[in-house]
Amino acid sequence: MRMPLILTALIRLPSSCHRQQTAGVPDRRPTVHQHPLAYLIGLEGVALLRCFAGEDDSEATTARLAGVRRLLDAAEELGTGVTGTLITTQEGYRTWASSYDAPGNQLIDIEQPVVHRILDALPPGVAVDAACGTGRHTVHLSGLGHRVIGVDSSPHMLAVAASKLPETDLRLGGLHRLPVASASADLLLCALALTHVPDLHPVFSEFARVLRPGGHLVLSDARSLLEGVGRPMPGRDRAGRFVVMPWFDWRTSDYLAAALPLGFEVRDCQEPLRPNPLVREDGSTVSDPPGPAQHDPLAPPNIWALHAYAPEATNAAYRNRPVAIIWHFQLGHRRRDRRPR
Ligand SMILES: C[S@@+](CC[C@H](N)C(=O)[O-])C[C@H]1O[C@@H](n2cnc3c(N)ncnc32)[C@H](O)[C@@H]1O
Repeated sequence: MRMPLILTALIRLPSSCHRQQTAGVPDRRPTVHQHPLAYLIGLEGVALLRCFAGEDDSEATTARLAGVRRLLDAAEELGTGVTGTLITTQEGYRTWASSYDAPGNQLIDIEQPVVHRILDALPPGVAVDAACGTGRHTVHLSGLGHRVIGVDSSPHMLAVAASKLPETDLRLGGLHRLPVASASADLLLCALALTHVPDLHPVFSEFARVLRPGGHLVLSDARSLLEGVGRPMPGRDRAGRFVVMPWFDWRTSDYLAAALPLGFEVRDCQEPLRPNPLVREDGSTVSDPPGPAQHDPLAPPNIWALHAYAPEATNAAYRNRPVAIIWHFQLGHRRRDRRPR
């Protein structure tokens, strides 16, 4: 996902929002240094590991080693990258809210139909869209006949949701303490938000508290190229500083370790793949119009523009890699480890 530049307009908090606890305070190192070569040589490295594993031949190995040399020779043109300050998700989505729904987001284009297929098979009831953002899935849940409660910690994202869904119950609140009564929901959806959470356990506990026994939990998250290695999203804040939001790339076993002790049972787990090839010969993304984005050596690196410097390595590295993970859990009738409220 690409984070846009500066948002200048201040958006009014929807009157239907209930003020609750805030969330998203980063707890990692305070800065992230993103060097274009770290990404590009990383792609070459992943492609080389695939050669080493026997997925590609000796000719491909030679081509990839030559690619590394070419990249090192282009170091001056690529620049030395930028150091971004880690910011909270509230700060980040304040900037992103106005353009979050813009078309052309490959992750969303692939994730959405998978999530909707799961949601479409569930009976209507009370549905909580936790970290609902601009209401992308909230709209769908309403259309399915659910009584929907949307919760998010970003007033700016909620303001966009409120403009689409003026009648919907939207609440300002955090995933760690949802402003929703215990055992009141038949369905809880949390899409593309757990990558921002530093610990899954308290959040899954909260999901289990809010769901009634037998309730459904549907989750989606972005997948990085390497499981467990995040890809924080760079951008600029309103003052022009380079900033990044926290990104935690959870392993499949992390979700299970958080969910199973609470009595959640797995109903489905899908990892839809990225398109293959991911980029054209000129490095532009196959799902975008032809012509690559331009890399700016003085700006936070945009990986979609960097692919033009190593299109073959990009396709080799991302081949058969998932873009998202999508879970469908159901809460068993035996309640365990859940705190009442
Ligand atoms: C990538 S957006 C996803 C929005 C929406 N679920 C969707 O799929 O389009 C992530 C959302 O999670 C929200 N968020 C991140 N951390 C949160 C937290 N701890 N509590 C509540 N919302 C959070 C952000 O404000 C943002 O709206």
